[in-house]
Amino acid sequence: MTTILGLSGSLRSRSFNTALLTAAAEMMPAEIQLEITTIQGIPLYNEDVESMEGEPKSVTVLKRQISDADGLLISTPEYNHSIPGVAKNAIDWLSRPLSDIPRIFGARPIAIMGAAMSNFGTIQAQRAWLPVLKALGAQVWTGGRLLVSEAHTVFDTSGNLVNTQVEEELRVFIEGFANHVANN
Ligand SMILES: Cc1cc2nc3c(=O)[nH]c(=O)nc-3n(C[C@H](O)[C@H](O)[C@H](O)COP(=O)(O)O)c2cc1C
Repeated sequence: MTTILGLSGSLRSRSFNTALLTAAAEMMPAEIQLEITTIQGIPLYNEDVESMEGEPKSVTVLKRQISDADGLLISTPEYNHSIPGVAKNAIDWLSRPLSDIPRIFGARPIAIMGAAMSNFGTIQAQRAWLPVLKALGAQVWTGGRLLVSEAHTVFDTSGNLVNTQVEEELRVFIEGFANHVANN
């Protein structure tokens, strides 16, 4: 069984990005599973804390989830035309110590998608992720693109994906990435 880990870049309980991952999990091709995780509980990165107390348990758990997976799918919100601080903070923790970077970021394909309330569907956040992932030596999958705009109209109040066009775009994106991961 091939496993992809879905990481939501939002802490919001009714996050559209988490809902997008949930919709993706329901349409995975056979023999490929999408497990969804969270950045909840990851403290603000502080090098003093790292030196004195070591890696927080929440970071160790997330590292293990990533290293157990064959691929990583980040669903990113967009804050002020860039990466939300909480999501970047989680990646910063994951990049410590430097010796862990190849194991966490270099060893598996990573895809980015995102949902936002604007008309531009996280295009600027997704662009902002690229130099970060490049710095970490990540294998960024560029075979597809998914920008979910006006997310508040695409999901219902229970977080169900109710827009058939977005559903189809998600299916194409997910199948492309999943097949890439399975054949990697
Ligand atoms: C501080 C802040 C900044 C935001 N900036 C943007 C933005 O630049 N572009 C955008 O499309 N939406 C922006 N939004 C709205 C988000 O698209 C919206 O909050 C969305 O629901 C976040 O994703 P989530 O539902 O997964 O938490 C912003 C929201 C907040 C709280």
